Amino acid sequence: MEMIRHIILLIPFSIGRKEMKVCIVYDTKRGSTGIIASWMGEAIKDVCDVRVMHIGEVNTLKDCDLIVIGSPIYYERPLKSVLEFLEQHQDELRNKKVAVFVVCIAEIFGHAGKAYAEKRYVGALIKRVPGKVIETAVIKGWIRKPNFSQKVVVQNWIKELLKNLEIKS
Ligand SMILES: Cc1cc2nc3c(=O)[nH]c(=O)nc-3n(C[C@H](O)[C@H](O)[C@H](O)COP(=O)(O)O)c2cc1C
Repeated sequence: MEMIRHIILLIPFSIGRKEMKVCIVYDTKRGSTGIIASWMGEAIKDVCDVRVMHIGEVNTLKDCDLIVIGSPIYYERPLKSVLEFLEQHQDELRNKKVAVFVVCIAEIFGHAGKAYAEKRYVGALIKRVPGKVIETAVIKGWIRKPNFSQKVVVQNWIKELLKNLEIKS
């Protein structure tokens, strides 16, 4: 009887609470950006409704509360497919919370390399997002063997991003 009373009391709270939908969208040539996107998804799957999607799988972004978009860097630029994706989804991205990340090896040139990547590579994505980008990241990629040292880095980045959103809302 006591348990039923508890359940009845909790019903209004569970109905009123909407789970945040996070869409992590990426493209990749050699796989690392997909692995990094899945590490991100794994880090937050217990606290929100997260979907990790290759850009080719995206039908609509309408039902996403937060959209995280990632691209690797080749020859100094994000992939054309990601830039085109941003152009094609301008209307859906407007008024959404958007974060972007790039995967590259610019950090082998130290702080200057990272600063360059933030300005030039991340900048190329930001330019195509309508509205303000709420967070950005430059992630160390790899050419052959996966760089597992980045797992904790990317997982902390996305957890912190969600925490900051919760504080603001
Ligand atoms: C042909 C080639 C060109 C690249 N050009 C750049 C570059 O201009 N700047 C950079 O920082 N990293 C560059 N990289 C490193 C890639 O961004 C890195 O390997 C990344 O992890 C690849 O992502 P992906 O596996 O998702 O395709 C290049 C890698 C290759 C193989």
